Amino acid sequence: MSDNNVQIFDTTLRDGEQVPGCKLNTKQKLVIAEQLENLGVDVIEAGFPVSSPGDFKSVEEISKLIKHTTVCGLTRAVENDIKVAAEALKYAKYPRIHTGIGTSASHIKYKFNSNQGAILERAFEAVKFAKSFVEDVEFYAEDAGRTDNEFLARVCEMAIKAGATVLNIPDTTGYCLPSEYGAKIKYLKENVKGIEKAILSCHCHNDLGLATANSIEGVINGARQIECTINGIGERAGNTALEEVVMVLKQHPYLNLDTNIKTPHLYGISQLVSESMGIYTQPNKAIVGANAFAHSSGIHQDGVIKNRATYEIIDPKDVGVTESAIVLTARSGRAALAYRAKNVGYELTKLQLDDVYANFLDFADQKKEINDQDIHQIIETSKVYQ
Ligand code: KIV
Ligand code: ZN
Repeated sequence: MSDNNVQIFDTTLRDGEQVPGCKLNTKQKLVIAEQLENLGVDVIEAGFPVSSPGDFKSVEEISKLIKHTTVCGLTRAVENDIKVAAEALKYAKYPRIHTGIGTSASHIKYKFNSNQGAILERAFEAVKFAKSFVEDVEFYAEDAGRTDNEFLARVCEMAIKAGATVLNIPDTTGYCLPSEYGAKIKYLKENVKGIEKAILSCHCHNDLGLATANSIEGVINGARQIECTINGIGERAGNTALEEVVMVLKQHPYLNLDTNIKTPHLYGISQLVSESMGIYTQPNKAIVGANAFAHSSGIHQDGVIKNRATYEIIDPKDVGVTESAIVLTARSGRAALAYRAKNVGYELTKLQLDDVYANFLDFADQKKEINDQDIHQIIETSKVYQ
């Protein structure tokens, strides 16, 4: 792994599956896991094995199936969780245990009725115990986004001392501003003793719609792993969307940060996850939404027909979408109508187009969108064709 490579840790099957009412069975999880491996993610978080026999089985089956990618299981900083995760991961070629504990003042007080000293000790013991089963141990400091930086640095030092090689800094509640999250990562890079032995990981939730921006600030400030889900699915407002962070890095090469993701697979896996989970993707969703490459206003259509780059910053083929769509509505202009008419077999002269366009506007005012069949009807019933 080069210094500029950002590892993509996919948690669609663990944090993503925490969407209320969206349960995947083991078979569906295996199909998604296989496609995640084909997509090129570096880590698949397959589940939380102690949480249920079904989750255990899924992690075990995914561990058997996956050939080149790290398979990870989540645990709390609890011995039995760690033992069960190690058991579920025993067939994995590259197993990782992801263990951790809440570190913010509110988690320490209300969840654990504990104190900072005891949390430091539990962090150390959990990582040490996980290390007795697998080499690759990731530690998470839950609610790191709202954890005091000085204490967070001490927790990270403890985890490194016990052998953690990845330190996950979750903005569990999606509270941080990008500048704040970036500064937190920078602070840890500069103040945690032994940080050269570990990589920092961003795990940002989207409660304020800032998950992608926060993850990008995180890697700009030195983190080298992003935890994310396909379509940004997850509890509440979801997790960082994999397709968004990957394309931000790809479209901004001057950042000098890359990933191993094969981006032409993005659209297909987005559809697969959406269908398997029964979660409809909003049409204006960045990168994979139905309208992400659709142009409907006359000015934009005219520009895109002349040159795609006028209104598109991504080539749709780069994310697996066959082509941009020119959608005909009452806001469309002559250029769009001529373009779509040509696609269904009519080469219109300028005079013919003027006449057909008048007919088109009457039609389009009655309908949300004009389809290919409508185009035939509009042209055949125009004066020039009678
Ligand atoms: O959001 C979070 O803090 C988490 C941890 C359990 C990693 O998902
Ligand atoms: Zn999370």
